[in-house]
Formats: sequence, C-alpha cells, structure tokens
Amino acid sequence: MRVIAIVANKGGVGKSTLAFQLAAELARRGTRVLAVDADRQADLTRYARGPRIAGLGLDAVLADPPRSLDPRPYIGPVAERLDLLGSSAALSRADRALCPPDGSALHLRQALEVVAAEYEWVVIDTGHSEAIIAGAVAAADMLVMPTTASSPDAQHAGDMLETAASVRVELGLPTTDLLSRSAITVWRRQHNGIADAQMIEWLRDRYGDLVCPVLIPHSSRVSEANAQRLTVRQHAAMYGSGRDQALRGAVAAYSHVTEWLMARSAAPVPAVPAGLLEGIAADEPDPTDVAAALRRIKRYRRLDDDQLSDVLGRPVEWVRQTLAFGARHPEGEERLTVRPRMKRGAPEIAPPRQPSWRP
Ligand SMILES: Nc1ncnc2c1ncn2[C@@H]1O[C@H](COP(=O)(O)OP(=O)(O)OP(=O)(O)O)[C@@H](O)[C@H]1O
Ligand SMILES: [Mg+2]
Repeated sequence: MRVIAIVANKGGVGKSTLAFQLAAELARRGTRVLAVDADRQADLTRYARGPRIAGLGLDAVLADPPRSLDPRPYIGPVAERLDLLGSSAALSRADRALCPPDGSALHLRQALEVVAAEYEWVVIDTGHSEAIIAGAVAAADMLVMPTTASSPDAQHAGDMLETAASVRVELGLPTTDLLSRSAITVWRRQHNGIADAQMIEWLRDRYGDLVCPVLIPHSSRVSEANAQRLTVRQHAAMYGSGRDQALRGAVAAYSHVTEWLMARSAAPVPAVPAGLLEGIAADEPDPTDVAAALRRIKRYRRLDDDQLSDVLGRPVEWVRQTLAFGARHPEGEERLTVRPRMKRGAPEIAPPRQPSWRP
C-alpha cells in the first residue's frame, strides 16, 4: 500500500478535484484504491457520491481511538476497484482529538495500516485543519501539493515541505523518501498568461524536479464534472464533443499526472535528483548556476553544508564559499557578486560589482 496525501496551505487550489481524479485514474489502471476524505468540507465525499453523514466516515474512525481505529465498517465502494472512506462536518471534532505530540497524529496512519493488505493505493484529501494535515503527513509515502500557477499560491506551494519535514521529525518518522517522492502539481488557470508562465518557471527553478511537468489546464468542464459527481473522463464520455479541446486536455492531464506520480513513487530515491545538478555538471560552469544549484539541492534534500559536501564530493569550504556568493538585491532579486575559479578547488572571492541600480 502506498499512501498519497494531497496537502496545501492554500484553499481552492484543486486538492479535492485532484484527489478524486487521481483515485479514479489509479483504479482505472487496475489497482485497488481507497480514497480517504480527511476534510470536514467533505468535497471528495460529494464528488464520489459518498454519504456526508456524521458517524459514517473518518470522524467515526478517529472518534474513540485506539478502539475505533478500524476503518472497515465505514468504507464503501464508489466504482470498480475504488472505495471511499468519507467525511462530514462532524470531522471537526477530530480536530480537537488529534493534537500532537501525544501520539494522536499517528491515528490516521494506524487506521490505514488495518487495511494495508486490501489496497495498493490510498489517496487522502485534506482540508485546512493543521491536526489532520499532520495526521495525513504522518501516514503518507508521498505528498502532492497542488497549486495554481498564480502568485501567491505558487509561493506558498513549497511551505508545506517545511511543515511536513518538521511533523515527521517530531514524530520520529523518516523524512528523506517522503520529501524526495513528493510533488507539486500546477493548475494553470490562464491558458496563455505570461504571469502564469513566469510563476511556473519560478516554481521549476526553486523546486526542480518536484514540479510535475504535466500542467493541469483550466476547464469549466472540470467544475461541471464535479457538480455532476463524475470524473472528467466520465463527463467527457457522456457529454463531451471531440472539438472540446479544454475538456480533452483536462482528461489527458489528470491521466498523465497519475502516471507521472506512479513513476515517481516507484523510482529509487536518488542521492541528488538529476535536475538539481544542472549547472554544476558543465566543464566551465557558470558560477551563478552553481550557487543556484547548490541552494536548490540544500533546500530539496535538507542537507547541511557537511552533508552537501559529502554528496558532491567537494570540500566543505568550497560549498560554503559558493553558497555565500548570493547577495540580496534591494528589489528582492538574488544577485551573485562573486566569480569562483572552479578548477582550483576553493574559489576566490572577487570584489562585488557596482550595483546597477545606483545612479
Ligand atoms: N482544472 C480545473 N479547471 C477548472 N476548475 C477547476 C479545476 N480544478 C478544480 N476546479 C474547480 O475549482 C474549485 C476548487 O477546487 P477544489 O474543491 O478541488 O479545491 P480545494 O483545494 O480542494 O479547495 P478547498 O481548499 O476548499 O478544499 C472547484 O469549484 C472545482 O470545481
Ligand atoms: Mg477540498
């Protein structure tokens, strides 16, 4: 069983929609899937036609632990190979019950372990409760953080990584595999918007291969499908015309995102993801790229300078000096003021350039 938790600091970024499409696409590929609605808004339960009734979903499972932690009585089928553990407004009571660090953050994880042999995938949709997000992070093998491509949604997208890492560390759970396998998915609301394109570039620069290369397009048909409680694939089959490119694009995107996440979940965790090493692999690397790549690797792998030096096989002094090259431009842009001599080991620090913004 592999557990995907869909989490975000921002609301309305497409979490529940992605959870529903992803769970359905995984089931369509022949695997047994459990969709878990861990949001008291119970949107996933509504999309999947489950009962949004107190006492019939996750609220009941979390109501009286450890006695209640068997989810089986509350799981029901919603499609072939796809089951649902639903939610209702009563899940807000679980907020009060789920307060780390007394071990309660592990209750969702313990409940899912009961059905581990029955499912290949579990997809958890979360809402805005920090306690329940912590429970989902503790249960997850993989985090998916959806965002729109617009600022400030995108700027918040990676904050969850920090939260997730600290939750896991506090609970004594391993972090490396989870963070390496996690992913940011992007819903591009403006089809050809330059601002969206710039935010996508910014996300890729900042989070490297964490960012799913498949962009989810905006289509009003996605909302229609949700309202009709259909997957976009079902909606397209029932109501779509061959000429509806946006709808076809949405069907293809959810399918490709699913495949990309499946591949990401199965891939071995690399010491340093290949994309992050771009910029230091060349014979005559540009120091700007080197410093940016080091910062990305540090952030992505949560390494300290000594660990980064081990991973790269370079002296720790070289790592420190290279990282120190970044200087803050008053407008917020990071500017590099130093040119390292890469071939001589530790680089020399050149005098800073005159900032161009001065008269
Ligand atoms: N690709 C898309 N194209 C168009 N509309 C979309 C798309 N994805 C989601 N939506 C719509 O955007 C709205 C928010 O989506 P959703 O409920 O999935 O977000 P959420 O992050 O779960 O929100 P919340 O924080 O309230 O739980 C819904 O009306 C949904 O139908
Ligand atoms: Mg939601």
